[in-house]
Amino acid sequence: MPLNLKLKLLFTDRIGIVADVAALIAENSLNIISMEVERKDNRAEVWLEAENSEHTPVREDVFRMLGKIPDLREISFVRTLPHEERENRFRVVLDNISDGVISVDRDGNITIINRIARKILNCENSEVIGKEIKSLNLSDPTILECLNGKRFTNVKKNLINRKGRFQFFATGRPINDSSGRIMGAVEIGKDMKEIKMLAQSVSQPDFVTFSEFIGESPSVSEAISFAQKIAVTDSVVSIRGESGTGKELFAGAIHSESGREGAFVPVNCAALPESLLESELFGYVGGAFTGAGKQGKSGLFETASNGTVFLDEIGEMPPGPQAKMLRVIQERKVRRIGGTKEIPVNARIITATNRNLEQLVKKKQFREDLYYRINVLPIHIPPLRERGEDIPILAEHFLFQLGTRLGKDAQFLTKTALNKLCRHNWPGNVRELKNVIERAAILCDAEQIGADHILFSFEVGKSMEGMKNRIHPVGSDSHSLRALLDVYEKQIVTEALEKSDSIRKAAKFLGISHTTLMNKLKKHSVTMQKKAGFSS
Ligand SMILES: Nc1ncnc2c1ncn2[C@@H]1O[C@H](COP(=O)(O)OP(=O)(O)O)[C@@H](O)[C@H]1O
Ligand SMILES: [Mg+2]
Repeated sequence: MPLNLKLKLLFTDRIGIVADVAALIAENSLNIISMEVERKDNRAEVWLEAENSEHTPVREDVFRMLGKIPDLREISFVRTLPHEERENRFRVVLDNISDGVISVDRDGNITIINRIARKILNCENSEVIGKEIKSLNLSDPTILECLNGKRFTNVKKNLINRKGRFQFFATGRPINDSSGRIMGAVEIGKDMKEIKMLAQSVSQPDFVTFSEFIGESPSVSEAISFAQKIAVTDSVVSIRGESGTGKELFAGAIHSESGREGAFVPVNCAALPESLLESELFGYVGGAFTGAGKQGKSGLFETASNGTVFLDEIGEMPPGPQAKMLRVIQERKVRRIGGTKEIPVNARIITATNRNLEQLVKKKQFREDLYYRINVLPIHIPPLRERGEDIPILAEHFLFQLGTRLGKDAQFLTKTALNKLCRHNWPGNVRELKNVIERAAILCDAEQIGADHILFSFEVGKSMEGMKNRIHPVGSDSHSLRALLDVYEKQIVTEALEKSDSIRKAAKFLGISHTTLMNKLKKHSVTMQKKAGFSS
């Protein structure tokens, strides 16, 4: 097959270029397939695709032929024309969106069908483009109704083909040309499965991913990339790090990354007394102990079926539950308290502690065998003071989060505020930073948050002193709001009277009526200091 000719011609702009090019091409028995003209300043770019059905034109002949056109400055062969590039780009975009898109011309012939639509309709691009949509034998080709001007939005549809069953929400629109005539129609289908997944991800409040675990320091990046690698395995993960370094958040992100469909179930081993911890973790059968309900209760390992159990502060776990945990990990089974039935456990276990487990083992406060079982994939999250470079991005992250929550305009930290943050030692780690930022954002009404608004916990007490004086004005020993307001009121009316030379003026100044002010003066037994010329 002869090859088509694709050319770019650059002219000094003038009238009649296109006519000249077209005439020459025709004279030389070439057929124009497409021609585009773009004018820039005083230049005109002509892009041309032409064919000769018998032979591929010889380059030199073409140059000689077109070289005759007046005002031609440059001529070159190209691989793709601008419209082809636009189409390619458009196709890549269309093929990479998660909705199915199909469009037809005014005769109902398919003009566009993207990757998802091809998948749903089980066909190849080349085989259907240009064909009538009717040939696809769709049970309800509603898109054709759009050619009569109909529109529909999110109509539930079912489609069954060799590849399976698809459920989607379809939206259809006519496509109009600039004068409003219908020149085709488009239908967009949203996969129901995807919508369900999205709905789930936004309705789960503690659905966190690694993109929300902020930090770019090498130690944090390393921890994240290690965690991403091992997320899909079933092995026990042990997260170590000081309090407030983000261990729980990190565990949640591992759970998300693992793709497990079950829940993320956190348990704080330090917060519950031994017997309650056991019944929470493993559940109990009806009547297992005094107070146990009749029907019994499932344990958290059952709740976290196909999910993750996060054992926080595992270093504080008492010996009884430690022994039971060892069994759960070794045998992957639990027995409810008082029960005999073995229930298989498929929950992933992630543990966390800020304690030195090795020392606890030495002191016989933590079982050595359990220590080895949980220490399969250890991850260390370093304290904030060892990764100062993360402070600015964390601060910015919390400010942004808070702005969204409080509905405030975006706030920024000044350089001095940031310097103050960076000089701090952060014994409470990221949790402390989050609190400091929250306090600053609330105290500061301006867009710029300065160093004065950055208060560490040891400074909060001092700055509250001033507040206390305001809340407890001199002359009050009561805490009731009414009593405090009365003290204020007395101060305010007295001051207003001192500043004005008549009660009328004082009332006006305070924005109240003369009578109201008179009543208040009586109530607080404020008497007028006689001034020269004073009148009421
Ligand atoms: N790297 C981080 N990025 C964003 N938020 C974080 C990060 N680390 C900690 N936080 C936040 O700080 C607080 C304390 O984190 P948490 O996971 O409870 O710490 P830990 O379990 O280590 O005591 C939480 O509000 C958490 O969302
Ligand atoms: Mg914690």
